[in-house]
Amino acid sequence: MTILQNGTLITPAGPQRADLLMDEGKIVQIAPHIDFLECEDTDEIFDASGCWVFPGFIDGHTHLDLNNGVMDTADDFASGTLAAACGGTTTICDFATQDKGGTLMDALAVWQNKAAGVSRCNYAFHMAITDWNERTKAELGALRAAGVTSFKAYFAYDALRVRDDELLDILEAIKPFHGIIGVHCENGDVVNALQRKAVAAGRTGVENHPVTRPAEVEAEAIDRLCWLGRMAGIPVHVVHLSTALGLEVIRTARRRGQTVYAETCPQYLLLDESRYHLDGFEGAKYVMSPPLRSPHDVAALRRAVENGEIDTISTDHCSFRFADQKAYGKEDFTKIPNGAPGIEHRPALMFTSFGSDLTAMQLCELLSTNAAKLFGMYPRKGALAEGSDADVVVWDPEARWSISAENQHQAVDYTPFEGFAAVGRAKYVFVNGTLAAENGEPTAAIAGQYVAR
Ligand code: URP
Ligand code: ZN
Ligand code: ZN
Repeated sequence: MTILQNGTLITPAGPQRADLLMDEGKIVQIAPHIDFLECEDTDEIFDASGCWVFPGFIDGHTHLDLNNGVMDTADDFASGTLAAACGGTTTICDFATQDKGGTLMDALAVWQNKAAGVSRCNYAFHMAITDWNERTKAELGALRAAGVTSFKAYFAYDALRVRDDELLDILEAIKPFHGIIGVHCENGDVVNALQRKAVAAGRTGVENHPVTRPAEVEAEAIDRLCWLGRMAGIPVHVVHLSTALGLEVIRTARRRGQTVYAETCPQYLLLDESRYHLDGFEGAKYVMSPPLRSPHDVAALRRAVENGEIDTISTDHCSFRFADQKAYGKEDFTKIPNGAPGIEHRPALMFTSFGSDLTAMQLCELLSTNAAKLFGMYPRKGALAEGSDADVVVWDPEARWSISAENQHQAVDYTPFEGFAAVGRAKYVFVNGTLAAENGEPTAAIAGQYVAR
């Protein structure tokens, strides 16, 4: 048994000064005062005074142990989930990606194998559908039985994307069981054409990355997704929203009565496109898709977070080392592996940067509860409630520290947030009732489990 005493718990009913008792991986009691003498075998008591106690944070969008066709990401499930736990994330939703010509169940088996036995935090899988056909469609029942109810499709990346008619068919196929699909919204044809033109004109530097993926490319694809969702009559989920234009499209769809879920990421709320103009090849650290945007976009997205127009903040963690992996695109920006690290730092970045502009309750929703609801894990995850899994974060709002490649646990040689002065830190992180991290450092526990939904 483990007791957290004297914390302020962020419960579904609101903040509450209370103690919390965990046993056998579950939250078994929440009460104003739990006296450890009443519990015969209480062996661990943690003082949470002065701290917020949250349901473990959920990162709804990570890419661990992913091969992009040329190279593997720097983080695998061992390092990525360790880093996640150090920062306060107790569950990730990663992507099992179907091989062209392959089956969904094979893809799930491959990703289960990558994660099992090494994960420091819990993991669920969205299924990225890249090859839609009758055989794939026939697998949806088996996939559901295996705990996968959320999906991903790409409008960009030639090796991954599906056609519009295929996406419509996917939407119709997942509708009967209320499946949800997150879509990478960029017009792939237009990106390809802009990239070809840039390279043909000798514009091969990293500053051309955002130029060839303009805001309109995102807005058009979001619009298309919304209309396809309307035709199929189901909600849609826009992942990694990065632009004010895209936000406007989502608002329009919502105004006409559609349910459109929106995710954004810390990088689109804190960094802007000026990073692509840093000296030398430094800008490659920020090559991700969609790219970083203008200060106007950043401000619009921050307001949207504050207004409740954004449902979840995830990382899109997809790490490649600067020294030997980003370098692959030194002569041609189109070859720079896309993605950046962030799985460890999302909670601290968001607590620090939104400060008192968001309540603890709102941060809880953005970093945990809404993802649990959207992806079919609530109230097992995403809630401090009796009977819920004992994924718990004790958050010390007074802690001061600096984000740096030197102190991070992500297995990569940089962080886009180098030098960021963080306010607040995960003091204790429990995964299924086991202490997984303390003050930003891991314990020896490997307590992560697969979350079947
Ligand atoms: O650049 C990124 N974000 N790479 C990861 C794959 C994706 O687009 O989500
Ligand atoms: Zn994407
Ligand atoms: Zn992604």
